[in-house]
Parts: sequence; structure tokens; C-alpha cells
Amino acid sequence: MKIIQVKDYDALSERACSFLVERINELENPVLGLATGSTPEGLYKQIIKKYNQGEVSFQEVKTFNLDEYVGIEKTDPNSYYYFMKDKLFDHINISLDNVRIPNGVAPDLQQECEEYEEAIQAAGGIDIQVLGIGANGHIGFNEPGTPFTCRTQVANLETSTIEANSRFFHSIEEVPTQAISMGIETIMESKEILLLISGENKAEALATLLTCDVTEEIPASVLKKHPNVTIIADEAAYSVMNQL
Ligand code: F6R
Repeated sequence: MKIIQVKDYDALSERACSFLVERINELENPVLGLATGSTPEGLYKQIIKKYNQGEVSFQEVKTFNLDEYVGIEKTDPNSYYYFMKDKLFDHINISLDNVRIPNGVAPDLQQECEEYEEAIQAAGGIDIQVLGIGANGHIGFNEPGTPFTCRTQVANLETSTIEANSRFFHSIEEVPTQAISMGIETIMESKEILLLISGENKAEALATLLTCDVTEEIPASVLKKHPNVTIIADEAAYSVMNQL
């Protein structure tokens, strides 16, 4: 894993943006894997800026998101579909036909997971997957203990994840307890992975990731087995690592 250390969240967002824009411009039909949550918000703001400056086009870009809550409609402001439209897709020239986010209200969730996998395959696989990390080491909603061999599936959220994500909801009771998540094996098939880690609340997770053995108890540790991973982390995220 290659690690780029930057000063703060703004520098992380800018660096991640240059990284992604470079890849989009290099590839003929880029297929991006995208994440939601607080970490990539700055990246998406930077991408919109670059798009407005004419430095990148999304005409030929396809995207697949990592996850979506089960039971939440697309139109719900807490859905990841809404998040992606609001933070990125509504502001760039991407066709919504080229955008795919698991449908958390599909009548048959199992079938939705299978179709999601097929759609990724049909697009030729993911060229570059953007990831955040949970304080518990999760990637996507693949919580500790998830087999590395799992593919897109309905995942149960850990209590700590429900608590962490309750900041976006009126109350903790409103936070869904399940999500459709791209599987670990699916993520690992991406040709390249960009993991973004920012802030003191992720410092323990980064230190653990950098020092641990590969274990299903720390889902992100699987990335050590991927040949092309870049981590961009800011100084706050490094605070625990620097004390070791
Ligand atoms: C989001 C996702 C999650 C987040 C992780 C960190 O699509 O799959 O794994 O990347 O929970 O979330 P933030 O960035 O909000 O700290």
C-alpha cells in the first residue's frame, strides 16, 4: 500500500481529486467506485470545481456506489442515492443512466445484489474504487468478521456504525440496521483502490490498519493483499500512528 500523508482535510480532498481526475482523463471509459459519508464530501466539492474549470468530463464515466441503506427510498434525503445526487451528480455532466447505486427498497434484495454484481461485470469491472474506513475498520458496510470472500450482500450494521451514522438522522432509532454493500471480494477486484482517511476519530483505525496482520476482524486489512492501493491520510489521522 502506498501512503500519501497530507496536512489536513482540505489537502486530502485536493490530492484525492487530482488523483481521480488524472485517472478519469487517462482512461477511455472510466468505471469509478464511489463512497458516501463525510470523508469524500471535500473530494466531491473539488471534482465539481475541476469540472466547472473544464478540466474533467464525465460523459464517458460510469459509477457504482459501495452501498445503500435497506428500506430507504431514493428520494429520502438520508439515502445514499440522494447524497450522491446532491453532493456530486447534479453538478457534473454525468448521465444518471451511467450511475448505479444499490436499490435498498428492491422487492427482492438478494436479486438486487446479484444484479449489482452483474452490472459491475458488464461494465468491465471497476477501474478505481474510492473508499473511506469505519472507526471499526469496515470498508463499505462490511463489518468486522465479514468473510473476505463475500460479494455484494445485505449486511447487518454494527451498533458502533449505527451510532456513528446517527449524526445524519433525527434520532438513532431512524438509522437503518441493514444495508446492501458491495462485498469485500468485489471491492478487491477493483483494478485500483484509493482509501481516504481523515481526522482524529480515524487515527486508531489507521494505526491498526498499518500495524495489523491481515484478518477478517479488521476488514480494511484485506487491502494489504491488493496490488494497487493508495492511502491518502491527513496529520490528524496519523496522530496515533505517530505515537507508536
Ligand atoms: C460509505 C461507506 C463507509 C464509509 C465509512 C466512513 O459509502 O461505505 O464504509 O466510508 O463508514 O464514513 P465517514 O467518511 O462518514 O467517516
